[in-house]
Amino acid sequence: MNIISEKSKGLRGSVTIPSDKSISHRSAMFAALTGGVCEIENYSLGADCISTLNIIKELGAQVDFIGEKHLKINAVDVFKKDRYKLDCGNSGTSMRLFSGIMASREAESTLFGDESLSKRPMKRVILPLELMGAKFKHNDYKAPLIIQGGELFPIDYKTPMASAQVKSCILLAGLNTAGETKVTEPYVSRDHTERMLKYLDADIVTDGNVTKIRKSKLTPKNLKVCGDISSAAFFMVAGAVVPDSDIIIQNVGLNPTRTGILEIMLRMGADIEILDKRLECNEEVGDIRVKTSELKAVTIEGAVIPRLIDELPVIAVLATQAEGTTIVKDAQDLRNKESDRIKCLVTELRKIGVDIEETQDGFAIEGKQNLKGAAEVECYHDHRLAMSLYVAGLICEKPVCINEFQWVDISFPEFLPLMQAVSVKLN
Ligand code: S3P
Repeated sequence: MNIISEKSKGLRGSVTIPSDKSISHRSAMFAALTGGVCEIENYSLGADCISTLNIIKELGAQVDFIGEKHLKINAVDVFKKDRYKLDCGNSGTSMRLFSGIMASREAESTLFGDESLSKRPMKRVILPLELMGAKFKHNDYKAPLIIQGGELFPIDYKTPMASAQVKSCILLAGLNTAGETKVTEPYVSRDHTERMLKYLDADIVTDGNVTKIRKSKLTPKNLKVCGDISSAAFFMVAGAVVPDSDIIIQNVGLNPTRTGILEIMLRMGADIEILDKRLECNEEVGDIRVKTSELKAVTIEGAVIPRLIDELPVIAVLATQAEGTTIVKDAQDLRNKESDRIKCLVTELRKIGVDIEETQDGFAIEGKQNLKGAAEVECYHDHRLAMSLYVAGLICEKPVCINEFQWVDISFPEFLPLMQAVSVKLN
């Protein structure tokens, strides 16, 4: 599906952000691990989270939709087989977290995915799981992965990168392993696994960038998923850069390990306000009001990177409207996402007239720029690139045609109607 994004006269009104992808994945996985019955409210209907639901069904869980995004998961019969084939689709989170889950089960599991997922690095989870005693077959450290699982040994592991997927993988293996498993990260990455496992009564303790877990039985409980700040990011940036905008983005998860974008936008001088902050299932939630803003450039590096890693493509669009040079450093892992997000972003933004320089671990953007648009751009099967390019189109002089826009369905199938509902068109 090719779509056109064109100049907007302003974003007005309010938008309710759909469910958080990271938290949705974990809610279904951990519900399956309770071995009991749990309900999940506001589960993401993005294709990645549906992959996770299909996997827990394959593991023996019964999954019923009892409302539009309301699930009932009965996990009484999970892990009864000795061989599983688990289709992770496009989802890196499913592949990496289920690797940890399956490594500690007496079974042979084959985890496979689509073309893009089959190119992504899996060494980062294979190495620690092998240290714990799991046996792997793999395609040069890429999927398909065949895991011969069984009883594991606990490890004390320092991850080479701040990655919630790697950390979660090891913690999930540790959850079913006698003794204490310890993970230390160079910087703190998103902590949804730790929070939700704690909520479900696991023996898990976090102190800064160190987390320790002991073998635990999870208690079945009902779970509620908040809105995804990574989806809200497209509206936050659009609200700040499109002239005459004033929008409220409702039900956004504000877990401090995810709010790097808020912090950076405030440093850039964005007109942003948080309304009605509350706590739901051990996660902070609130509404965000954004108005058109006068922005200045900043340098984005170090500890904040894992707290906004998925938002960097749309932050690049924000940077085009900030006075000065915005520099992004320490973000080399962006090259290992659904696409090489540094190379692809630079290539496509240049087509619409952005002055952007590619570096090995990020990019530099000169602002403030007038974007010409009038181009056909590609999203490389990458949902976040597609939506970032759409936001760029809202401030281009001439329309932008985005090819294969259907990839947004991976995380945010409702993106286009929600954006069109708040955007005022020219004439
Ligand atoms: C995720 C962690 C991040 C993020 C991804 C979702 C998660 O990846 O980019 O979209 O749910 O744990 P890394 O942990 O590899 O940085």
